[in-house]
Amino acid sequence: MADSNDTVTIATGEGAPGTTLLGIGAYRPRRVVSNEEICEKIDSTTEWIYERSGILNRRIAEPDETVIMMASEAAQKAVDSAGIDPELIDAVIVCTSTYECMTPHAAPKVAMNIGRNGISAFDISAGCAGFGYGLAVATNVIRGGGAKHVLVVGVERMSDGIDFEDRNTAFIFGDGAGAVIVGPSESNDVSPVVWGSDGKQADAIKQTKNWREFMDEAADAAAVQPYLVMDGSKVFRWAAVQVAKVCAQTLETSGVTAEQIQAFIPHQANGRINSAMAKHLGLPDTVAIANDIEQTGNTSAASIPLAMETMLREGQAKPGNIALLIGFGAGLSYAGQVVRLPQNPPID
Ligand code: UT7
Repeated sequence: MADSNDTVTIATGEGAPGTTLLGIGAYRPRRVVSNEEICEKIDSTTEWIYERSGILNRRIAEPDETVIMMASEAAQKAVDSAGIDPELIDAVIVCTSTYECMTPHAAPKVAMNIGRNGISAFDISAGCAGFGYGLAVATNVIRGGGAKHVLVVGVERMSDGIDFEDRNTAFIFGDGAGAVIVGPSESNDVSPVVWGSDGKQADAIKQTKNWREFMDEAADAAAVQPYLVMDGSKVFRWAAVQVAKVCAQTLETSGVTAEQIQAFIPHQANGRINSAMAKHLGLPDTVAIANDIEQTGNTSAASIPLAMETMLREGQAKPGNIALLIGFGAGLSYAGQVVRLPQNPPID
């Protein structure tokens, strides 16, 4: 073994002092599926679904609207909205739990599709908190000197894993993709993340079986694919009580008060959870609360960037507004951040 060499100095990264959101883009699948259509397969009503969840419509992807396709479309729009030379993008993070393939991961193909083949590219799986995890990694990589401009995409094809005859889940989920470009900044527009998980309650949102169990059954013609199941009221209680506290911690960590928040963009899981959280935080009535769930359903890791894009496009929030983001779901995982919304609006 060689002698140790205490004279060697390993360089630390030369990162940016802060980070900022430069652009945003979205992809919404073509097919709009109404509550009426969902109720053709379950014993429910449009009114019950709207009252309990806040959902009227959701988008369901068609076969060509794959995870890679939706992610790449949203990513390209984010690049266009950022108005930067695409050559500056040097990392891609795809946040998803529904990519069809375990190997290879999705991000390298998304990088290729936006003309940046060869840059670092990887996926993050943290359920509905995935986008917050991706944003946290991106900001820390930029501050640590590992990259300068990072594309973060939240994308899901939830419909692939939903049993549309299960009335506990059929009406909730939807498909789509949202993306942001995170870049370096002298000031700082993205707070440190407040994140965590609870493995003890991880079974509250799960697959009916894992892929190994499915493969063991696959020789049987009656084998049924794994579906997503959820203990809705357990997750509801956890979100409305525990995650609401995480929102308060996020404000504290960011040094921003409830009065300074202009937009609240929680994961779009349930309109009633969002109202409960806003009340818990004592957000002033002037704060715009994202309600993308009404027309988009719950798109898991895609829901926060999709909701952000809707608010900016429809004028409920303005570029540069201060926003509180909170992702929560499977795991049970969560991630909260305070951000300044992108200065550049989305491009249609
Ligand atoms: O994105 C990941 C994180 N996910 C979440 O945060 C989801 C959190 N949970 C929820 O959003 C809500 O729990 C749901 C929207 C899923 C369900 O709403 P709920 O108010 O919690 O309903 P529940 O499960 O407590 O059920 C209430 C009643 C039950 O009937 P009884 O026992 O009171 O007679 C259910 O059988 O509603 C019944 N029910 C339905 N009725 C009509 C359950 N599903 C349906 C349905 N249509 N689709």
